[in-house]
Amino acid sequence: MEQIKMILDCDTGHDDAIALLLAAAHPSLKLLGVTVTAGNQVLERTVENTLNVCQHMGIDVPVYRGCDRPLVREQVVAGDIHGKTGLDGPVFEKRVREAEKEHAVSFLIRTLLNSDGDITLVPTAPLTNIAMAMRLEPAIIPKIRRICLMGGAVGAGNATPAAEFNILADPEAAHIVFTSGVPIVMMGLDLTNRTLADMDVIRRMEAIGNRAGKLFSDIMRFTFNTQRLNGLSAGPVHDVTAVAYLAAPELFKTQSMNVEIDLTHGPCYGRTVCDINSRTGKKANALVGLDVDLPAFWDLVEETLRRY
Ligand code: RIB
Ligand code: CA
Repeated sequence: MEQIKMILDCDTGHDDAIALLLAAAHPSLKLLGVTVTAGNQVLERTVENTLNVCQHMGIDVPVYRGCDRPLVREQVVAGDIHGKTGLDGPVFEKRVREAEKEHAVSFLIRTLLNSDGDITLVPTAPLTNIAMAMRLEPAIIPKIRRICLMGGAVGAGNATPAAEFNILADPEAAHIVFTSGVPIVMMGLDLTNRTLADMDVIRRMEAIGNRAGKLFSDIMRFTFNTQRLNGLSAGPVHDVTAVAYLAAPELFKTQSMNVEIDLTHGPCYGRTVCDINSRTGKKANALVGLDVDLPAFWDLVEETLRRY
């Protein structure tokens, strides 16, 4: 079976780390590189966290440092959910893994231009790196097979009543991506909030008995508590859904619709305005995730973690 070539663009973070474990080990996926941006924490922390996870799990994929701030708005981070380090909870060995010298945006442009147009971008973070690459070199746009992202929501946000964190952290970047014409799959909160890693899930993955299962447990036990801030009973593995969709789209219910980013500087700044009832007559630009077969989703996660 031909593997799907992908690049993960993340802001590691707890759920980003699990998404990285899946992207690096699922048999249907070929992870070409990992690009990192600021988001859950400042760039220095998200790069450190990404390198720690790669080193700890023996993931031999190049990691690239990207943009350290949003395109226009002031920077926001999610320390309340992800802690001071951005990945509070697990303890890692002394890091020796280094990021590549090349900037993430340069890596994205170089790799996409040299490709046959068969690479999927999987952003699980603010869209700053992707938007910057599109603006710097528009010739990459027709070379992007698809963008399968975690972000946005048809309904309520989590960073504000209207906006989900990844979009709110850089709404102008999201606008560039959603108006680029590249086919988009959007895994929003309506779906991702269902993927709660409760204690049954945590114990299930821990019982795998390998390093991946232990890391899953150490990571998700931390957000089990902090996610109560969002009124949730446990921590969702938001970002994992974007990788899981690529590996097993049949597990997901999706609907094609127009999605517009609200850039007005009011209470809805950063909202993904999803035309689920086709009221605007605007062309659909995204396939929006509405539901997931949860038992099959957790089976996929467990099967993949067992491969380490
Ligand atoms: O709103 C959830 C998103 O924000 C996830 O990507 C999480 O890692 C944080 O970045
Ligand atoms: Ca993330």
